[in-house]
Amino acid sequence: MKYKKYFRKTSLKQKGDGEFFLNEVRKKNPKYFLEIGVFHGVTARNICELLKSLHKKDFKYIGLDLFENSDENKSEIIPSNSFSNPFKNIYFKYIKKQDPYSLEAVHDLLKNFKDNVHLIKGNSNKILKKIDMSKIDYVFLDGGHEYETVKNDLKYCLDVIKNSGTILCDDYNLSYAPGVKKAIDEFVTQNKLKCEILRNSRFAKIEKN
Ligand SMILES: C[S@@+](CC[C@H](N)C(=O)[O-])C[C@H]1O[C@@H](n2cnc3c(N)ncnc32)[C@H](O)[C@@H]1O
Repeated sequence: MKYKKYFRKTSLKQKGDGEFFLNEVRKKNPKYFLEIGVFHGVTARNICELLKSLHKKDFKYIGLDLFENSDENKSEIIPSNSFSNPFKNIYFKYIKKQDPYSLEAVHDLLKNFKDNVHLIKGNSNKILKKIDMSKIDYVFLDGGHEYETVKNDLKYCLDVIKNSGTILCDDYNLSYAPGVKKAIDEFVTQNKLKCEILRNSRFAKIEKN
């Protein structure tokens, strides 16, 4: 399945990464998907298209993001929101009249799936403990890259693994965000889980042993 970019920015921008990711998800046939770190919603849209092809209307996508670059969030890495292609800046400013990194714009990108999608604006350090994880069977963990944030995110997703689901973490071995790898390695060891490192150490796939 082709990973489409929808004229926006995404983590999975390098050739083949998006398709690799979608194939990984498809292998597990999930129905209740959680993405931590939605950004412009490109992966969200690709996931909704995939889940629709697998389950018709019977799926759920939950997406959580700060959707805001504020002082309170300044310790987290938020990708640059402006485009190197000037046409894209013009398109969002004057045609869409939207900030692509906003709850409204992502809702708009996902409007064909409005009955299946639940988007949450907030910090995963505060929000995740309130989310019912009992039905979620796949997590794409791509939010904050601070050690404490990844540690917290994984802690609240442990039930997904216990229920035989999967957590796929992005940016496992990023030189400028070493806390991601540290938090994942500790989580896997402490909980005696299986962890596969994929695609040149980009992804860590965590499952039950
Ligand atoms: C790398 S981007 C996500 C890219 C997206 N998954 C994709 O595939 O295109 C990381 C996102 O995580 C969000 N983020 C960072 N820290 C967060 C936190 N503590 N809670 C929720 N979202 C966070 C940022 O706002 C940013 O949009």
